Amino acid sequence: MKRDILIHPDPRLKKLCAPVSDLSDMLRALADDMLETMYAAPGIGLAAPQVGELSRLIVLDCIKADEGTPRPLVMFNPEVIAVSDDTNVYEEGCLSIPDQFADVTRPRAVEVAWIDRDGNACQEVFDGLWATCVQHEIDHLDGKLFIDYLKPLKRQMITRKMQKLKRERARA
Ligand code: NI
Repeated sequence: MKRDILIHPDPRLKKLCAPVSDLSDMLRALADDMLETMYAAPGIGLAAPQVGELSRLIVLDCIKADEGTPRPLVMFNPEVIAVSDDTNVYEEGCLSIPDQFADVTRPRAVEVAWIDRDGNACQEVFDGLWATCVQHEIDHLDGKLFIDYLKPLKRQMITRKMQKLKRERARA
């Protein structure tokens, strides 16, 4: 089932999300809903708070539809356990901040530990777009958005545009 994606500013996007302790069918259904919502958007990553669920759960797939076999990843309690010294700049966007993009500098590669959909402990090194995406999504679980890396003026400009978008959508 597709879920509605919250649009910034929303207090739920600023919250610290709680670790998942037991993998219930409800949480697996939420992960499946999030993948469906992400692919439909379309997007390459989605975090639970973006659909109003304050749990440490993210989904991602950075394989473009025309580039190869999809690789949907479901990560419960994802944690960055190591980062590279060198950095990468990507023009980032966010499904909660539609049509706004800006360059963000992050470590080029990260090692991430997580629990997968079947409850297995996983660990993997990601680089390139995958590294950026997984860091962006984990940030969401700590109430952090990519615009928080921008200069205040640029951030305020984007936030005002989003407030206007929300007013327009509420009227529609
Ligand atoms: Ni995002």
